[in-house]
Amino acid sequence: MAEVGTLERIDGVAVNPLRAGLDSSRITDPCTIVFFGASGDLTKRMLMPAMYNLRLSDILPANFGIVGFSRSEKSHYDFRNEMKEAIDTFSRTGPTKEPLWSDFANRLHYIASSFDDVEGFKELKAQLEENDEKLGTQGNRLYYLSTPPGVFPKIVQQLAAAGLGPKEQTKGWSRIIVEKPFGTDLGSARALQTEITKVFDEKQVYRIDHYLGKEPVQDIMALRFANVMFEPIWNRRYVDNIQITAAETVGVEGRGGYYESAGALKDMIQNHVINLLALVAMEPPISPNADHIRDEKYKVLSAMRPIKPDDVARSTARGQYGPGLIEGKPVPGYRDEASVAPDSTTETYACVKFSIDNWRWADVPFYLRSGKRLAHKHSEIAVTFRGLPHRIFGEAGDNIESNTLVMKIQPDEGVSIRFNAKIPGPKMHIRGVTMDFNYGTGFGVVSAPAYERLIGDAMRGDATLFTRWDAVEQAWLAVEPIMDRWSEARNLDFPNYLAGSQGPQNADSLLVADGREWRRI
Ligand code: BG6
Repeated sequence: MAEVGTLERIDGVAVNPLRAGLDSSRITDPCTIVFFGASGDLTKRMLMPAMYNLRLSDILPANFGIVGFSRSEKSHYDFRNEMKEAIDTFSRTGPTKEPLWSDFANRLHYIASSFDDVEGFKELKAQLEENDEKLGTQGNRLYYLSTPPGVFPKIVQQLAAAGLGPKEQTKGWSRIIVEKPFGTDLGSARALQTEITKVFDEKQVYRIDHYLGKEPVQDIMALRFANVMFEPIWNRRYVDNIQITAAETVGVEGRGGYYESAGALKDMIQNHVINLLALVAMEPPISPNADHIRDEKYKVLSAMRPIKPDDVARSTARGQYGPGLIEGKPVPGYRDEASVAPDSTTETYACVKFSIDNWRWADVPFYLRSGKRLAHKHSEIAVTFRGLPHRIFGEAGDNIESNTLVMKIQPDEGVSIRFNAKIPGPKMHIRGVTMDFNYGTGFGVVSAPAYERLIGDAMRGDATLFTRWDAVEQAWLAVEPIMDRWSEARNLDFPNYLAGSQGPQNADSLLVADGREWRRI
């Protein structure tokens, strides 16, 4: 394997030959990124391919290092081979390429240690100092917590004990990325926050929600705040309701153990889906500055009306999938998945009707839903406008629809607007039609995976797409009354939807009671 530094250098900076001559948004601060939980699935599937592709696109600083830290025993050499295999398998750009890979691999180091053992953290300190000296990482450190959340506080304490906390630092910066879930309820989230802020300032904490790194999610703000035509109608006078959907076809994919104690409400609604709500409902920020945006997100989340215990049944529905067909193939029910109790009452589908108590949104329902093993993978935000105030066109059989603006998040990425048009012909027949914009064909690019964007931003010190503590706390406050009520009433009719279906019938009833219906998944 080639030694670090065998790549061509210009002004001391290693040049990526595959990007020669192309424009790039290079991160200039050298640094070492430490992945805690480096033997886990997330590192292999997402994080390491993201790092490699950031290098391939010439976005990483020339002087960078990566340290994997986890319990499993292995050498630097084994770790490098394991990461190569992971990148070869999961990278969006295909197998690793030389000479880039050899240079990348030589910057990878591994520490096998329990998170309880301070010696492992001392070893980490020595490795970081060696990186400063040999790789020129200048004392800058980005710690990434991708372990099971139970050990997050321990790792933070150990960093401080080993003199690796920012307060002990004499040169460079330290930041910490915290994977979701940030707590398992309001109390544990607050306790985790207390532990983290004993060592790191809020400005050094990057709580990751990978949904925020998805290109179409970032585009919600562009759509709303880089156009004048939507803002005048973006309020209760014109909007009838907003539906936010995050539907998946996958089941629990070997994560039964985790999912049993999470469920759809905590796994998706509390974080990803509520973050979408914040972006679609917040007031225009005064600038794109991270805190200006996050101030507005916090404000709107704090205007979410807490659901009273007696209203939970009327404002929510939950379900669990039974066996069924996904893309024509039979799949087992949730209770038959590995590490799931045969009488499990964990919900794999959740929907909630929220209200936002402010001038803009008073009386506009926000319907949020997320579920596994549904008919299609489909995430979107649909803003449905009010009906016509007075109807002059359209014969009895015509279908004049409400106007709808849909922000399509995945798998299609784009925006579509549904409006009414005259059907060509001698009579004034009206029908709904769709105007569609697709990012891929519109801009001729494929969006980079969310983790690439987010890790790059954290290295740059841009926290815009990371969730600030006050928003996390508000999101827990919003779901906690539901969690409490749901945990009391556990005599459920589960499973209550077929894999591959539109979800449980009680979710339909929730909207029917309001004289509305869900959009098809
Ligand atoms: C994760 C959840 O946060 O998001 C998973 O824990 C879920 O259960 C995943 O499958 C969905 O993300 P994406 O990007 O695949 O839609």
